[in-house]
Amino acid sequence: MAGIVYVNGQYLRSRDARVHIEDRGYQFADGIYEVCLVIDGRYWDADGHLDRMDRSLRELQISPPMSRTALGAVMAELLTRNRLKNALVYIQITRGVAPRNHPFPAPETPPALVMTARRFDLDASDERARRGVAVITQPDIRWGRVDIKSVSLLPNVLAKQAAFEAGAVEALLVKNGKITEGSSSNAWIVNQSGAIVTHPKGQEILGGITRETAIACARDLQIKIEERPFSVEEAIQAKEAFITAATVLVMPVIAIDGRQIGDGVPGPIAIRLREAYKDRARLA
Ligand code: PDD
Repeated sequence: MAGIVYVNGQYLRSRDARVHIEDRGYQFADGIYEVCLVIDGRYWDADGHLDRMDRSLRELQISPPMSRTALGAVMAELLTRNRLKNALVYIQITRGVAPRNHPFPAPETPPALVMTARRFDLDASDERARRGVAVITQPDIRWGRVDIKSVSLLPNVLAKQAAFEAGAVEALLVKNGKITEGSSSNAWIVNQSGAIVTHPKGQEILGGITRETAIACARDLQIKIEERPFSVEEAIQAKEAFITAATVLVMPVIAIDGRQIGDGVPGPIAIRLREAYKDRARLA
């Protein structure tokens, strides 16, 4: 964690920063978040992330703590104060502080805003992408509105922990026999006819911002896209698999549940999409 964080109007050293014990985020997971990637001092897909953040706030009826312009200024200041060029910026907004009681607090209760930044190692990520990663499957036991980027992530945490304990980096979540998405990423395969397949947007997945950009890249590359659910078996039989998220960009998957995907090395489409994604995000 880099040194300086933003907490409700103040820039503080991380070790001095505090939130109230009756913050509703702490007691009820009553809040939302975003994770934005910064490369060479520039936010990638910032508008997409901030649009989704506004949507999450609207869906949960949490008022925005400040204007988009003001938020942008805090995001920029955080990078400057931490002297970060490549970073992952975490933004969290909760319904604020109030005596513990399930219904929403009084409407004048100010939402709480926390922002942190930590260094992102693009070279290490590229190196990992050259090798590809292993994933496992886990049951998708999440609530019915995972399209909202809420901080309520316990099922995701349990699935990710299971992946780590299995020596994998991600858990693909399975609901009614279909892979919805990863515990902190969107899931994709390349089928035998060379089309990329990913679960459609809706209430069963988080609509990834990287996913949107990757779809745009695939269109540019004239790769066929099928937005439909796919089964674990279809994934294991696929030519390629990969995951996308701000934290991993486009990351080739070479094994699912210990079973090799394709040739067991990163596939050509995943590699091309990763490069195309980087080019496009740089230019945006
Ligand atoms: N997670 N699906 C889930 C469940 C996620 O948590 C994420 C991102 C994504 C990909 O979204 P995006 O492309 O906008 O990053 C999909 C963030 C990175 C996290 O929780 O750390």
